[in-house]
Amino acid sequence: MTSIAMPKLKGIPQLGLGTYPLRGEDVIGAVSMALEIGLRHIDTAQMYGNEADVGTALRRSGLARSEIYVVTKVDPSNLGKAHFASSVARSMDDLGGPADLLLIHWPPSDDDFEATVDRLITERARGMANAIGVSNFSPSMLRRAQMVAGGSLICNQVEFHPLLDQSKLLAAARETGVALAAYSPLARGKALQPNVIQDIAIRLGRPASEIVLRWIIQQGVIAIPMTTKRENALSNVAALNFELSPEDMAAISALGTRDGRTINPSWMAGRWD
Ligand SMILES: NC(=O)c1ccc[n+]([C@@H]2O[C@H](COP(=O)([O-])OP(=O)(O)OC[C@H]3O[C@@H](n4cnc5c(N)ncnc54)[C@H](OP(=O)(O)O)[C@@H]3O)[C@@H](O)[C@H]2O)c1
Repeated sequence: MTSIAMPKLKGIPQLGLGTYPLRGEDVIGAVSMALEIGLRHIDTAQMYGNEADVGTALRRSGLARSEIYVVTKVDPSNLGKAHFASSVARSMDDLGGPADLLLIHWPPSDDDFEATVDRLITERARGMANAIGVSNFSPSMLRRAQMVAGGSLICNQVEFHPLLDQSKLLAAARETGVALAAYSPLARGKALQPNVIQDIAIRLGRPASEIVLRWIIQQGVIAIPMTTKRENALSNVAALNFELSPEDMAAISALGTRDGRTINPSWMAGRWD
């Protein structure tokens, strides 16, 4: 087992491993590989149907559970009073202990908003998670949730890459004391394509994926790329160890638009701010 000097934001290792859509031996293999090369932050969710397999990989690693930072998320179908607590208990059984960070995966309905955030707070108080946060929350939802939580939310996990302008969300995260975690940080490959990124990659002699991840990390954002390949995981780790110039950072930031989402479910229409 290798260990990596890893910066943390709000206690969260700044680079982790995403696990969607992996299941079974695929996810066990990817998590085992990531832990072997020194990554210590694993992202899963009830929705991915892989928490039990992630739990298997954690146990097989031989690492103490306290050495690994595990994030999971409550599925939209479990946010109501009837299923929240039981679904979290099942997740913790599957993962082999409390989550380091428990998130609401997608925003609750407007009329159940405060009650849902309260349920999350209750789970932390019951010891089911060491910390709590949200995912896919717009700036106004983030402010509202952080108010309900009395400032105790530590993270908003959102789509974040150079093709999507998330500057307002980043400002809201800083204002509310929440760390942003970038999902689909490579936009599933699409963020590697623009000429601006390709040109910087050639000039610096690094793959485009490292340029994209460095742009995220250098803004003080967490990144959780998914990969099943050791060479790609090692390359993603290398993004921790170089710097982009202010000019290159600005050129990449200029690529972002408000409609650059890869993931945009119909139920979020009109709710992104
Ligand atoms: N909260 C939410 O609603 C939400 C939504 C979506 C995703 N997520 C989380 O975020 C994680 C990451 O997002 P994502 O999987 O959608 O997209 P992503 O990480 O942007 O892209 C994953 C793709 O990039 C490839 N890749 C990874 N590293 C690479 C490298 N160094 N060079 C070239 N290709 C590379 C992977 O292929 P290889 O396996 O071939 O490397 C994979 O096909 C998910 O796994 C999940 O845990 C959360």
